[in-house]
Amino acid sequence: MATVLAVETSCDETAVAIVKNREVCSNVVASQIAVHQQYGGVVPEVASRAHLEQVNRAIAIAMQEAHLTPADLDGIAATCAPGLVGALLVGLTSAKTLAMLHHKPFIGVHHLEGHIYASYLSDPNLQPPFLCLLVSGGHTSLIFVKDCGKYETLGQTRDDAAGEAFDKVARLLNLGYPGGPIIDKRAKQGNPTAFALPEGKISLPKGGYHPYDSSFSGLKTAVLRLVQKLEGSGVTLPVDDIAASFQDTVARALTKRAIACARDYGLHTLVVGGGVAANSRLRQHLQDAAIGHNLRVIFPPLKYCTDNAAMIACAAADHLNRGHTTPLTLGAASRMSLTEVMQLYR
Ligand code: KG4
Ligand code: ZN
Repeated sequence: MATVLAVETSCDETAVAIVKNREVCSNVVASQIAVHQQYGGVVPEVASRAHLEQVNRAIAIAMQEAHLTPADLDGIAATCAPGLVGALLVGLTSAKTLAMLHHKPFIGVHHLEGHIYASYLSDPNLQPPFLCLLVSGGHTSLIFVKDCGKYETLGQTRDDAAGEAFDKVARLLNLGYPGGPIIDKRAKQGNPTAFALPEGKISLPKGGYHPYDSSFSGLKTAVLRLVQKLEGSGVTLPVDDIAASFQDTVARALTKRAIACARDYGLHTLVVGGGVAANSRLRQHLQDAAIGHNLRVIFPPLKYCTDNAAMIACAAADHLNRGHTTPLTLGAASRMSLTEVMQLYR
């Protein structure tokens, strides 16, 4: 039963949480969204500075809310990759310093492994093997989860990530940043069949299409052309209908690939993770499709879909329970494959 404090600063949320195995004792998220909104996206240097300003306070609040002292912790963790290096370094250095000060084991965590572990906070009895549809601002993959630290990528996007497509389309529609939540909201008032948009398919050399890989850059360009055409014809832009049609196209494309992959690999549990796992249309499509395929679909609670430290602490606790710890010499990395996760541990 490991109790772990984790710090997550890979992008634009300064997050600290304490988790006892799969039970959240405290979860603090200091969002920087308001800071970055004026630029229309995350500015790395601004993110690093904001993390520096927030991180100590977030750690103190997380300890207070959990009613724990450092002596109660079994380990201290931080996200070390992938992400913005300057931003990662703030959380990583804070966690390593705490670990050194309090003589606790340190656990470096891969951000995407954290997103996979968010579903353990929904269902503490969840056990591998299962398939994970990981859909965030930077990644879109289908991952075969074999065990803690053992992952195989079965499908991925060939260009934009799903969340990135939401953010870019929101910008085209002048809806602001981040795009996912606002498109989700506007789409509720729109008609998802108003505009036929192309689902990006990846052609195979011998004919047919890749069953699990996806592409979202063509869809984004199709929305751009549609907006240009409608604006050229002088009509008021039907923002709600465009948002609904775009969102439905993404949700159908992801659902089709996830269901085919689970079926082909004989997996009966599908876990969804990452910011786009919060999308209401994706949740609905996946749940509807799962009924006919003997598939159990698990979504993290909404607050653990987007970046948070509870999911990082949950992954760290599982590693610590298995005796996995990380040397304090660990640095931050902007890129790292999920298949390399075990290199973080001795
Ligand atoms: O996992 P996350 O917080 O950060 C990364 O690791 O990238 O994901 C952020 C992404 C953003 O692109 C955001 O627009 C998207 O998740 N997102 C959503 C929703 N909420 C957040 N996309 C679609 N529907 C949502 N409700
Ligand atoms: Zn994330």
